[in-house]
Amino acid sequence: MTTPIQFARIETPAVLLDYEQLLANIRLGQRIARQHGVAMRPHVKTHKCHEIACLQIAEGAVGITASKTDEAMEFIRLGIGSVTVAYPVVVSEKLDRLLSAAAARRTELRIVADSREGVDAIQAAACRHGTVVPVLLKIDVGLHRCGVREDDPGLVPLARRIEGESGLRFAGLLSHAGQAYGAKDADGVRAVAREECEILMRVRARLEKEGIPVPTVSVGSTPTVLASESYDGITEIRPGNYVFMDRTPIRLGLVPKSQAALTVLATIVSRNADYFIIDAGSKVLSSDLGAHSAGGIADYGLAYPVGDYDAKGNELAVRKVSEEHGFVVRGGQDLPIGSQVRIIPNHSCVVINLVGEYTVLKAGGDTEVWQVPARGRVR
Ligand SMILES: Cc1ncc(COP(=O)(O)O)c(C=O)c1O
Repeated sequence: MTTPIQFARIETPAVLLDYEQLLANIRLGQRIARQHGVAMRPHVKTHKCHEIACLQIAEGAVGITASKTDEAMEFIRLGIGSVTVAYPVVVSEKLDRLLSAAAARRTELRIVADSREGVDAIQAAACRHGTVVPVLLKIDVGLHRCGVREDDPGLVPLARRIEGESGLRFAGLLSHAGQAYGAKDADGVRAVAREECEILMRVRARLEKEGIPVPTVSVGSTPTVLASESYDGITEIRPGNYVFMDRTPIRLGLVPKSQAALTVLATIVSRNADYFIIDAGSKVLSSDLGAHSAGGIADYGLAYPVGDYDAKGNELAVRKVSEEHGFVVRGGQDLPIGSQVRIIPNHSCVVINLVGEYTVLKAGGDTEVWQVPARGRVR
């Protein structure tokens, strides 16, 4: 356990990562996968960090999932054996980068597509590189971001095209039910997960009836993975945020506050009648009110006096953020200037993309610094 005196040695603002809690969260995800007989391919857009990816693989993940091309490249170069790019890559230069790197490292590379243009781009790249690319068809299960809707008349022809083209292999279906972030409670999340599963099973049945085998059915968001009761028909999960947790799974009642592995340490640098002013603003906490702008979260984080972090009911809202300052509601407390608070952020994935390193809290109060090499890899 880290004491307030040990925290005082950490220069702020700092992103703290509780190592034991990180490991517990990774093992929880793996346990869920094992219990339901599905493969785990965690999404690394959450942490963007080699050490954490290696822990996930060591605990049993069969590979990783990435969003952006250059984020995926970082983990291909690291030597992760199987990388899924769960983002439509439609530009030939990016596909060339991915296929060259995957060939050099002998990485299994899977890519999603949800359009004819995307499939054509992957097929052309596969031909240029003389390889066969497994393609997952992205299905829209309610977030209405990317993906083909189940009632789209183009769905079966697109799957058939992937299956029939030289250079491509139809690997199956992939979805992300990000709308679960906006649910009211755990039952609401379960309903989203049930609907996601039902849509995917209907699509799979239709494709199989058309003679197109569907080897993989891949789902994954942290709320649905934590809340789901049934994984019937699912073959793999891709949660990302579960390694850290943040205000959303806590708000949804899926995990207690003590399961948050990532917090932000900040110092009170000034105070006025209404607020403690801290040295972490939007450049550390972000202005994000939760993933996918799904709603349900007010304020920019919950702050706790550092020596009192584990107590119940003493949270102070970070009500406003400037770039370099946060406004913490005083809430009847009398915290001195120079004292520290620990903040549970709204959305942990964006926090670490803003701050270049983790201060890892190890047993006995030791700290270590881990870098974030895929930070800012947005291309
Ligand atoms: C395609 C895809 N898969 C998986 C995830 C992981 O979701 P979460 O961070 O809720 O675990 C995301 C997150 O945005 C995603 O976009």
